[in-house]
Amino acid sequence: MSKDQPGRLSGRRALITGASRGIGRAIAEAYARGGADLFLTATSEANLADTQKAVAGHGGQVVCHGAEISDEAEVDAMFAAAVDALGQVDIVVNNAGVYVGRPFAEYTANEFDSVMKVNVYGVFHVMQRALRHMQEKGAGKIVNIASTAGKWESPNQAAYNASKHAVVALTRCAALENAGIPINVNAICPGFVETDMINEFKAHADRLGVEFEDFKAAAISRVPMGRALQPEEIANIAVYLGSSESDGMTGQTITISGGMRMG
Ligand SMILES: NC(=O)c1ccc[n+]([C@@H]2O[C@H](COP(=O)([O-])OP(=O)(O)OC[C@H]3O[C@@H](n4cnc5c(N)ncnc54)[C@H](OP(=O)(O)O)[C@@H]3O)[C@@H](O)[C@H]2O)c1
Repeated sequence: MSKDQPGRLSGRRALITGASRGIGRAIAEAYARGGADLFLTATSEANLADTQKAVAGHGGQVVCHGAEISDEAEVDAMFAAAVDALGQVDIVVNNAGVYVGRPFAEYTANEFDSVMKVNVYGVFHVMQRALRHMQEKGAGKIVNIASTAGKWESPNQAAYNASKHAVVALTRCAALENAGIPINVNAICPGFVETDMINEFKAHADRLGVEFEDFKAAAISRVPMGRALQPEEIANIAVYLGSSESDGMTGQTITISGGMRMG
């Protein structure tokens, strides 16, 4: 599974949030193969051990750091540690996120808040630090992992959809304000990706009293390609957005959904 062109990210220093598993780990591995130096984060440094092993030996620097992304002080310390360790940060991938599924009328305010704190405030805090740093050095790339839920309606996940619509808005506004520097700010909007987040879908299916396999089959049946995406397929786009190949692109929301909603 090493189809990347080597060197597409060589000399680039990247901060990746949510790098312990799923899409974030796949991005860390693809960035390592591309030659980037890495500053990897998750809720705890210990959670990054497997990713650290997976990217070891690629030749670049790898630093792991635990931080609660919804806590502004922790994000402040995290970004300062990244600049300190890598010298500067050229690419920031905002990938950390959470999912809580619930019919609209049944969400508690605490559940709504918990999703917003990670998916919106977390991204906002990291983007602010990234923009200030990149404005000072006169260049940079920000890659936000939003979702098809950031573009469309979906049943029983209004909090998640609201949070991902906000990520799309943050992406577009930051892109517009910083295009002249240039700082490229783009988002990837994946559909259904096979990761641990699926366990949250399972909890949701349980609450609805639906068998998880039926719930999953119903989700897959809406995908024209008839399958879930793999994290590596999202990582390939993140490599492109972090590389000079995408220098002319900003403010875009790239859908990868196995063909759902082609318009
Ligand atoms: N899977 C999908 O179908 C899908 C589809 C579209 C978009 N996405 C988006 O893609 C991103 C990654 O999803 P995934 O499926 O790979 O999820 P995942 O397997 O559940 O991994 C989530 C990652 O986010 C980190 N994280 C969660 N809460 C955090 C917090 N409060 N502070 C710091 N880090 C935190 C986790 O760290 P720990 O290991 O330390 O908990 C983990 O590294 C998310 O933004 C998600 O919304 C996923």
